[in-house]
Amino acid sequence: MEKFHVLVLLVVFSFSLFHGGIARAVKSQGESEEWGYVQVRPKAHMFWWLFKSPYRVEQPSKPWPIILWLQGGPGASGVGIGNFEEIGPLDTNLKPRNSTWLKIADLLFVDNPVGTGYSYVEDAELLVKTDDESATDLTTLLMELFNTDESLQKSPLYIVAESYGGKFAVTAGLSILKAIEAGKLKQKLGGVTLGDSWISPEDFVFSWGPLLKDVSRLDNNGLEKSNSLAEKISQQLKDGEYTEATNTWIQLESVIGAYSNSVDFYNFLLDSGMSPVALTTSAFSNGIFAVNRYSRYLSSLRVSPGNDDGDIDSLMNGAIKKKLKIIPANVSWGGQSDSVFWYLAGDFMKPRIAEVDELLSKGVNVTVYNGQLDVICATKGTEAWIDKLKWEGLQDFLNKERIPLYCKDDQATKGFFKSYKNLHFYWILRAGHFVPVEQPCVALNMARAITQSPAAEAS
Ligand SMILES: *[C@@H]1O[C@H](CO)[C@@H](O)[C@H](O)[C@H]1NC(C)=O
Ligand SMILES: *[C@@H]1O[C@H](CO)[C@@H](O)[C@H](O)[C@H]1NC(C)=O
Ligand SMILES: *[C@@H]1O[C@H](CO)[C@@H](O)[C@H](O)[C@H]1NC(C)=O
Repeated sequence: MEKFHVLVLLVVFSFSLFHGGIARAVKSQGESEEWGYVQVRPKAHMFWWLFKSPYRVEQPSKPWPIILWLQGGPGASGVGIGNFEEIGPLDTNLKPRNSTWLKIADLLFVDNPVGTGYSYVEDAELLVKTDDESATDLTTLLMELFNTDESLQKSPLYIVAESYGGKFAVTAGLSILKAIEAGKLKQKLGGVTLGDSWISPEDFVFSWGPLLKDVSRLDNNGLEKSNSLAEKISQQLKDGEYTEATNTWIQLESVIGAYSNSVDFYNFLLDSGMSPVALTTSAFSNGIFAVNRYSRYLSSLRVSPGNDDGDIDSLMNGAIKKKLKIIPANVSWGGQSDSVFWYLAGDFMKPRIAEVDELLSKGVNVTVYNGQLDVICATKGTEAWIDKLKWEGLQDFLNKERIPLYCKDDQATKGFFKSYKNLHFYWILRAGHFVPVEQPCVALNMARAITQSPAAEAS
């Protein structure tokens, strides 16, 4: 057995392909994993990691899907967090994850935008400043991966995003459709899924005070303070003062932290740092309190408090970097993440409701899911931006009855589902921001339904 492994390692190969100036280094291990860099612009290198599912079933009427997972932040690594902490085949202790979404689809993790995770730029000025720039880079990466691989083209692509990733997902969804229509990208877009997604920052900041007051985490004084800062943000957005709005958002987070005795922004039942995808203080000890709190989700996390072997930062800069072999020595995982956030500070508070509307009117399946206990992207705020859609089906959607969701033999209600035409909504109970971590069973069933996966139910 040992010998076999050594042999497999020896046939691991590495090469570079050049297509129109885009370089891509690929390493392959059997057929189950591939990873590499795509130079999406000169000196801007984007890292991707594709897992091909061992559970694949061939069914002519139902193609095997591929999920592109987009992490939030901006600046949080899908290759690290989404993969090892949420839905990938292995957890941060490199033990198999029972609830991996690989059971129902192939998984493509991308460190998006450039500068995130293992992705890097050789000059900070090459970091993206808008969601649209990120969408263009991501489309370039997909053209590079899909146009040269006929077997990949057979799988419809489902974009699934978490948190800030939702803003990337809707802009990328539109950019991908355009590239497909222009014949530049050989792919089928299956749908766009927005998990606890930062689609309308204004609606979220207005949801925080009332939600936290209703669940006793704020009193009236805290509520008033919170609402007055939300009003300030609203005015700044009207005046086009987007970077200022980001700074007020930072102020608002610290005010809520102070009045709530540090509620966890990712699960209001918890204190900061206690969530299952919990936070360490090491990486961002000196900056502004609120941003630290947020970027920490985003950059240096542990699976569970007290589980020291699960430190993702050491994992990604240690064993995984070694395994991947192609990460330049001077590129450290997460090293440019903070800059990714600040370069996007002028876009951070801009809504992307119009982009959701455009996807809906083009007939793309849009699925929204939200954890009941989330604060940062609270269900209350998500419902508020849904109400603002101009989509013609909205009223019928709102009038539909919800269907309760269960898992396996468990009698407890796990969530609710509602759907009209191409808009679908999952309310996931007893989960905060990290739905696949906190409700793995119902999340996997949801992913199966979204992707119309032919995978057997039995998992
Ligand atoms: C790493 O080093 C190379 C060679 O010195 C340099 O060209 C590149 O810009 C460096 N990359 C980073 C991310 O610092
Ligand atoms: C949208 O999803 C439904 C299943 O929920 C499916 O029947 C339909 O074909 C999908 N539409 C598109 C355009 O992919
Ligand atoms: C893992 O999945 C198997 C098969 O569905 C199930 O029998 C088992 O209980 C699961 N284990 C855990 C720890 O959830």
